[in-house]
Formats: sequence, structure tokens, C-alpha cells
Amino acid sequence: MALKPVTSPDVEAPAIQLTVDGQQVEARQGVSLYDVISQTGKIIPAMCYHYTFDPFGSCGMCLVMVEGKKAPVRSCTAKAEAGMVVRCEGEDLFLARKKAVEKHLTIHPLDCPVCDADGHCELQDMAFQHGVTNLVNAKPKGLPEDRRSLVLDFNMNRCILCGECINICKDVQMVDALQFFKKEGTTHVVAKGDEGLVCEFCGDCLAVCPVGAITNKYSKYVYKPWQLKKTTSTCAYCADGCQMFIETSGKGVQRVTSPLSWKNKWGDRAETAEGHGGLCVRGRFGFQYIDSKERLGAPLVRTEEGFAPRSWFEVMDTVVGRLKALKAQHGPNAIAGLITARCTNEELYLFQKLMRAAIGTNQVDSSARYGHLNFTRALQHAAGVGRMMNGYEQITKANVLLLIGTDITETNPIASLRVKEAIRVYGAQVIVGTSRLTNIAKLASHPLPIAAGSERWFIQALVKAAVEEDLVDEAATTAAPEAFAALKAAVAGLSWEVLTARTGTSREVVIEAVRLYAEAPKAVILCAEGVTRQVEGYASVLNLVDLAWVTGKLTRPGCGVNALPEEANEQGAVDMGVASELLPGQALYGDEDGRAKFATAWCCSLPPPDPSATLMEILKRCREGGIKALYLVGENPLATLPASTGVREALEKVELLVCQDPFLTETGRLAHVVLPATTFAEKDGTFTNLEGKVNRVRPALEPYEEARPDWEIFAALGTGLGYPMEYEAAQDVQREIMKLLPGYYNLGEPRPVTAQPEGYLRNGYVREVAARYAAGAEADGARPFTLTIGQVLYHSGKLSTRASGLVQLYPSKGRLQMNPGDLAQLQIGPQDVVRVTSANGALELRTEPNHDLARGTCFFPEHFNEPPIKDLVGCVVDPTTGVPAFKFARVAITRA
Ligand code: SF4
Ligand code: SF4
Ligand code: SF4
Ligand code: FES
Repeated sequence: MALKPVTSPDVEAPAIQLTVDGQQVEARQGVSLYDVISQTGKIIPAMCYHYTFDPFGSCGMCLVMVEGKKAPVRSCTAKAEAGMVVRCEGEDLFLARKKAVEKHLTIHPLDCPVCDADGHCELQDMAFQHGVTNLVNAKPKGLPEDRRSLVLDFNMNRCILCGECINICKDVQMVDALQFFKKEGTTHVVAKGDEGLVCEFCGDCLAVCPVGAITNKYSKYVYKPWQLKKTTSTCAYCADGCQMFIETSGKGVQRVTSPLSWKNKWGDRAETAEGHGGLCVRGRFGFQYIDSKERLGAPLVRTEEGFAPRSWFEVMDTVVGRLKALKAQHGPNAIAGLITARCTNEELYLFQKLMRAAIGTNQVDSSARYGHLNFTRALQHAAGVGRMMNGYEQITKANVLLLIGTDITETNPIASLRVKEAIRVYGAQVIVGTSRLTNIAKLASHPLPIAAGSERWFIQALVKAAVEEDLVDEAATTAAPEAFAALKAAVAGLSWEVLTARTGTSREVVIEAVRLYAEAPKAVILCAEGVTRQVEGYASVLNLVDLAWVTGKLTRPGCGVNALPEEANEQGAVDMGVASELLPGQALYGDEDGRAKFATAWCCSLPPPDPSATLMEILKRCREGGIKALYLVGENPLATLPASTGVREALEKVELLVCQDPFLTETGRLAHVVLPATTFAEKDGTFTNLEGKVNRVRPALEPYEEARPDWEIFAALGTGLGYPMEYEAAQDVQREIMKLLPGYYNLGEPRPVTAQPEGYLRNGYVREVAARYAAGAEADGARPFTLTIGQVLYHSGKLSTRASGLVQLYPSKGRLQMNPGDLAQLQIGPQDVVRVTSANGALELRTEPNHDLARGTCFFPEHFNEPPIKDLVGCVVDPTTGVPAFKFARVAITRA
């Protein structure tokens, strides 16, 4: 699917000069003439053009006169040539364009009063601009609407055959779900095979359709575009940080749109390396939870008869009173707090300040503990960088991308478009070490099937191959000879036989992959849940750093090691110091000077680092009775952690469980007090995306009933506890953060980072490296399957299961996905029930074939607990970072 050279930013074409409306213009030979014209600031009509994909040339609007040609030329598909003399305006061109509009309108239904695009329609605009008034011969096509898809309706009467929907799906999404198809005497846009559309439902086709031919089922006939209030904000689902417009009416959220639109069709093709302005299915169609009737509308207190609503005044009085009493009786370490990384930076900052300064405990943690901290801690330790090293543009422009343990399309769909553009536009080689045939593996030059859960051994094999095949960078390794000698010795102790048996891949394949990576000038590593949420996640990230270091890729511009965080603000949670080992700015909590700085700023004394506690330790102390009050903000550990962690016992043991959340969750049902919080759409603040870019979150709606933004509740609690936290607005918190972390909000752009591994390689590396290169325990032969519990594209944690649009697309099916070959081998039919047995228990459920899964692997989406398959999984806590690994288990599967 090569790009036509007309718009490829990669084309090194000679500079040329041409004349546009009498003005001398510089351009590159062969680029689209339309692009050259629009870069001079002239906007000429163009209904089938969008800068994000190749020109199509169907609408006949972008006409210009080129000296030497008798008839007008379609400038979008014409190529700029040296010496061209171009005229863009004139009566002749106006009439020719008017004729094109009339041609479209004569077969158009003119049902503007009932069209969702009314007032947001390029055809309307063009008809108006060109004075098209006489349509007496109009012959609409009279076709029935195609309503076969779950999300999008196709009204082919309105279609102007511009091809934008087909082109964006093919060129940008690389899904290629749509096509032109002749039937009923006319051309239609249909899903491939003329069936109901089944695709990624990103909605890009909807966004670029210049008329009302594609409509959003979830928002149909409920608004006119000009009636909606449009608020620019940042998506709260994943860490990609997509900008979105939340469009609301008096009745709540009507739709979510994106900067990607036919309205924004003019841009520099090269800019798409940083993003194309679109959204994924979650961001665009998963908004219904915001004003869901299931939201908590008032504070609740548990009574003998169940939950009873109370006023904020009363409930805050209760919580403050009980916290004060517990603190007075047992000390501040009888209290602990956990917060979700879907809160804003300002809220995360305030939460840790509340816990440390107002309550006086360092038992504080966030959902970044579920994996991202393995990455940030390892990278901070080894290279002095506490976040991803490469932004979107560097990913797009890498020569080689090495993806390990990530199904990036499912977890970070918009980040995955950078990988797709790297493949499609910049010709990157992509290596994907994966146990399932992921979307990216299907597009990659080097899909490398590995056994499920074997990522850590695959990484060790890559390092071993780099060292043994002498694919090392001399300058990098000679600068730290002792470290290199220690690494050599460590990998020499690994056996290829064991590594290949564990990973299910061959030594040759590993060598080929590492050679490709090592020899590329710009090589980027992307990993995620299969590394950071796995056993030995911290060590595996260090091993990836080793790989980058020995091949000279750690400090070279355009190269780096990256892990994709899952929730919207995991990076912000780490940066704001919501981890018992970190202060805001990722200073170490154990560092006395660091603590002193914040103690002075906050006018308090901070609790000593001992005792501190992270998530799993907090739960343990709850069970043991040391912690008597647990404050949970947006966290639902009962639905997240497996039963073997003793999470229920911990939550049931505490004397005071306070749950603050927009919804009454499984954990909330155990609480003594439930505080109704707002969603991101009712908040002011910021999120930090995976690139480290700080993005604004703006309120689109007033808080739902009596719900309050989390930061307001923290401030009220702190003040009630006798520690004044008198903030009037989120901006007051921002100002405080700005003072303490100068430059944090000025990132604006992803800030280039430079790894500084020297200290790490010289101090301590030699002592610790051998332990990281060890094959560990054998797989459990009695349980031949690997169960993985992970994310799917249509969901994000448990939050998305409150969005009816996403649940409709991907409901809880309660089925175990298995490779059809395994099902056949076990003689299990599609409706049969299987018994899944792990070291932690057994349960029965139906299966579902999934061709993308490797043999010996089965999958269950982590968003659903019916049946509670997560309880089959054990939990291994990382000894360095306290990150719990609970997404993989060895299981036996038999017919029930
Ligand atoms: S929703 Fe996205 S994936 Fe589906 S057809 Fe439209 S552009 Fe393609
Ligand atoms: S459905 Fe819309 S975007 Fe697609 S070809 Fe028709 S008018 Fe163009
Ligand atoms: S879920 Fe992630 S990729 Fe999708 S729109 Fe939101 S931020 Fe973007
Ligand atoms: S924009 Fe050139 S033909 Fe449509």
C-alpha cells in the first residue's frame, strides 16, 4: 500500500519554483498542486480532499487554470512542476465549480431539515458560496438507508462519492473496511463484501464525510450542530491524550467529535507524524457514562438498612470525625489511600498532599502501581528518565520499531496509528514479539510469534544475541567496560535451549530481529502490559535498557525505550508523586532534602519514609489490622485484583472504608461512606499523556446532581482535618504545582529526553546484572494452557463498561477465547462448556474461537468479572517496585 509520491513527506524531490496567481512560490517537484496552493494561504474549494491521505480527485471542485492547458485542471491530483503558471480565481473557474456543485445536488435528496449534518455540511456551504438556486431537475436516488452496522448508518442518497471515508480507512487506519460498490443502478459506499460493517469503529469515516451520508447512530436526530456547546478536552480513557470536543445540549452529552474533520482538511502532510487528530472507538462512542442514570447523585452512608443518602455537610463531618478519631487513637499510619490515575494532575497532587501533609501518612498509591511504575522506576534508575523516551513523531519516523508484549491497537489505538504510519509512509521495519496475531503483527515486516507470557525470556534472548553476535556499539560498551563484561558473563549463563523452548522461537529468528534493531540508525522499543504487568516486569525493563545500551540506542537521538501506560493519567500520577517512594517531580521520597523542600512548601512536617506502603502492602496491613481506614478514590480493587490477594478480606477488615467515585462500584458496596465524584467531563485540570505532554481537561457540563470534583473533596477534607487547603479552583492547585515543579506545564510539546546511564553502569550494575538473566522456574506441564487476561479495543478498565455505546459493541460474553486448533484437539464444540483449572481454583464457562490466538493460549477480557476468571490467577509482587503481576496463569482445560 505504497503512498503515491505526490504527498509523501519522505520524497526528497528537487525544489522548484512556480507562479500562483502572479506570486512566485517555492515547492518540491511532484507534490500535489493543491498542497502548494493551500500553503500560500489560498483556500480553494475541495470536497474530496483531506491532507491526511492521498488526493482522490473525484469531486471536481479544486479546479485551477494552468498556462498551456485549455481546460481547468483538478489541482489536487495535478503535480507541481517547475515553471508552472497557475491561476486559481476567475469567473470561468467559479462557473466550472458551480457546475460541479450542481451536478452533486441534482442527485442529492435535499433533506437538510432531517439531516444530522445540516449546518455542518460542505455541500450546503458550496451551494451557498456558488449561488446554486435552480434545482428543478433534481433526481434524488431514493435509496433505503443502510442500517446494518451497530454504530454508523449509511445514507447513500446523500453520498457525493468523494471517497474520503474509504481513503481514511485505508490510508490512515489501515483497516480498509469500506469500498465503492455498484448496486441498484448506482454506486454505494459499503463495508467490504456488502455486509454489515464490522471494523474498529474509530469513526474517522464519519469525521471526514463532508455531507450527512454517514451518521452516528448514538446521536441521530437529537441535535442540530449549531445547538450544541462544544468543549475542547482530553479523553479520559487511555494515555494517548487525544484531544476531543465534547458536544453538549441542555440534555447532556450528545456526541464527541475530534479535530479530525472535513472542516480541518488543510494541513501539512508531514504533520501527521505527530497525530491525525482522530479518536478511537472509546473516545468517540464511549461517552454515555458521563451522564448515565447510574451515576451517584448524593453522598451515601451505610446504615443497618443499607445505604442512605446524606448531605455533604453531614457526610464530611462523619468522615473527618472518624479519621480524626482513628488518627488520635492509632496514629496517622492507621490510614491509607489509593487513587485512580484517571484523575487530573491537580487532583493527584492534592491527594498525595492530603495523605502526607494533612493526615501524616506515606501509605499512598495510585493505579500506576498496576504496571507503569515498573517502567518509570526502571528507566529512572538506569537512565535518569522517568517516562517514555520517544514521542509520537519519533515513533513515526523510526527505521525500526521493536514491539514486545503490547497489543497496541487494543490498548492505545491512536498511538498504534503512529506505528501504522511508520510502516506505510516511512517504510519502517517492524518487529512484533507477540503470542497473538495482533493487528500490528499482521501489518509488520517481522511478526515473531512467541509463547504467551514468555516476553521476559524473549528480551533476555535478544540481549544475549546482541552480545554474542557482536552487534554491540563500541563507543557505548567501551565507555563502561566492567558493566559490559558483567553483562557478557550474565548472558553467557543463559542456555539457548531453555530460551528457545520457553519462547517457542528459534535462535536464528532472534538473531535476525536483533540484527535489524541494532543496525538501524533510528530504532525505538515499545513495550506494555506483557512486560510491565508481568512477573519480573522491573527487571525486564532494565534488560530492555541493556539491549538499547549495548547496541548504542540508549542515548542516540530518535531511539529509546518506551512502555505504553494504560490509563489516561498514569504518567501524571507518577509525576505528581502519588507513590509512596516518590515525591512530586519523581524525587525520591527517601531523600531527606527532597522531603524538606516539600515540607517547607506545604508548611508541615512530612512522615518519615518508614513506614511507607504501596498498594499490596496497604492491603496486607488492612488485613492485619494495622490500617484501620482506607480512602479509595476511583479505585475498585475488588473488581481488579484476584481473590488470592485477599483483597476482600482487607476491605472488609477496615473500620472505615471511604469510596469516592462517580459510580457505586463492587468495592463501593462494601464501603461505610460513598462520596459522589464527577467524571472528567465536569472537571477542570490537566492530564499528562504517554509522551509527557500536559493536556487540558475542561468542564463540558455542570457536576451531576450533588457530585463534586475530586480536588474539591480533598480540599474540604484537608481543611476539615485542620490542615487548611483553601483552593478556589483547579488553577490554584496548578499555580502551586508550577511553583514546585517549574516547567511542568510548559511542556506543551513532548520534551526530548536524554538518557544518562553512566552512573547506573558504573555503580552497582556489576553486582545486580546476573540476577536479571536467569531462566527461572519451568512452566507447569500439568497445566498446558496459558490464560491471559487483558484489554480489548472497545473497553478501558471497568469505566467503559458504564458506557452503553461500548457495551453494545462489546458486551460481557462470559466466554473464554481459544485457538480453533486447540478446541478441535480437545474435541470441544462451539457451544460446549469447559472447565478451566489453575493452581487457584476452577470454573466452568463456554468458549469462543479466536484465530489470532496462538495455540496453547486462551484469553478473557479483563473488563468483565462474569464469571470471575481473574480469581483463577495468582499474584506475584515485584520485589523492587511492589507491582502486582496477575494477568497470566497456567491452566488446564477439559470438557465439563
Ligand atoms: S469507523 Fe474507522 S475502521 Fe470503521 S469504516 Fe470508518 S474509518 Fe474504517
Ligand atoms: S459516504 Fe461521505 S465520505 Fe464517503 S464517499 Fe460518500 S460523501 Fe464521501
Ligand atoms: S481511548 Fe485513548 S486512543 Fe481512544 S480516543 Fe481516548 S485517548 Fe484516544
Ligand atoms: S478536491 Fe480535487 S477533485 Fe475533489
